[in-house]
Amino acid sequence: MRVGVLTGGGDCPGLNAVIRGIVRKGVQEYAYDFLGFRDGWRGPIEGDTVQLDIPAVRGILPRGGTILGSSRTNPFKEENGVRRIKENLAKHDIEALIAIGGEDTLGVAARMSDEYGIPCVGVPKTIDNDLSATDYTFGFDTAVGIATEAIDRLHTTAESHMRVLVVEVMGRHAGWIALHSGLAGGANVILIPEQRFDVDQVCAWVTSRFKASYAPIVVVSEGAMPKDGEMILKDGSLDSFGHVRLSGVGEWLAKEIEQRTGKEARTTVLGHVQRGGTPSAFDRWLATRFGLHAIEAVRDGDFGKMVALRGTDIVRVPIGEATAKLKTVDPKLYEEVGVFFG
Ligand code: F6P
Repeated sequence: MRVGVLTGGGDCPGLNAVIRGIVRKGVQEYAYDFLGFRDGWRGPIEGDTVQLDIPAVRGILPRGGTILGSSRTNPFKEENGVRRIKENLAKHDIEALIAIGGEDTLGVAARMSDEYGIPCVGVPKTIDNDLSATDYTFGFDTAVGIATEAIDRLHTTAESHMRVLVVEVMGRHAGWIALHSGLAGGANVILIPEQRFDVDQVCAWVTSRFKASYAPIVVVSEGAMPKDGEMILKDGSLDSFGHVRLSGVGEWLAKEIEQRTGKEARTTVLGHVQRGGTPSAFDRWLATRFGLHAIEAVRDGDFGKMVALRGTDIVRVPIGEATAKLKTVDPKLYEEVGVFFG
């Protein structure tokens, strides 16, 4: 059997570990052949392939990014996208396709499987950890580690100058990275997209930290919004993927804090640093297990399914279950850890 593999959406530490797990087990245990498709769904649409065999996956376990490349191409938005994929899969004798990706990539895989009979297995990835049906996605632990280290470093410089340091982390729709890194890094305020924040309240917390002789660290998700509206939208425009750009909340907030409290404030936007570089040990472990289970699902002919972490077990769920609804931070959890903030 020949199996196609693609990685779509934003890259994520651990993608190469998944690919390696799939290929190693597929070749060694089932004698399968593999073909990589370049740049997510663009590969099968355009027939852009890359050799994927044991030598190709040697040494890639600790490497960030993806050896297959990635893109946000959506076949349903391309002319004859599905027809071209079917033709290219037939041309290369592909009998199963493993799609490693987030909400968009997996949403396409679900439709390909359910509506067009293309045998797909999904593997969930995102540093944002906001995919339903899995307890964790690989990449998240690495991103949290990077953000935590940054917060640790920012504490000492904030204290030396007695400034407020606002740290903007990734998370357009979910505050998982902010919550985990903020708690681990001993931040004083954590602001997440799930709960609109009150700037006056943030300023009151900041002021109270200074009274206790601490220089406060404010961690804010890029998608967090103030209560009184859309003021942080830069121009309300959509990016090339149709997303409203919310970037700038960290900078905006630091200015508001300075004006309202009279304390000096600076912003650090961590951005793509959170997605780059080598995966943590946990992410290598999880990604490898996802890869091993994905190729087992192929062997079982269990298509339209995604591998998922439940507790310490890897299970299979319908891909649609993961893409139907984003997994956001439960207000109870936010409240539970809130004792450390404010
Ligand atoms: O992968 C998800 C994510 O990391 C978001 O947290 C972030 O908003 C987005 O990707 C950035 O995407 P891009 O690489 O397209 O700027």
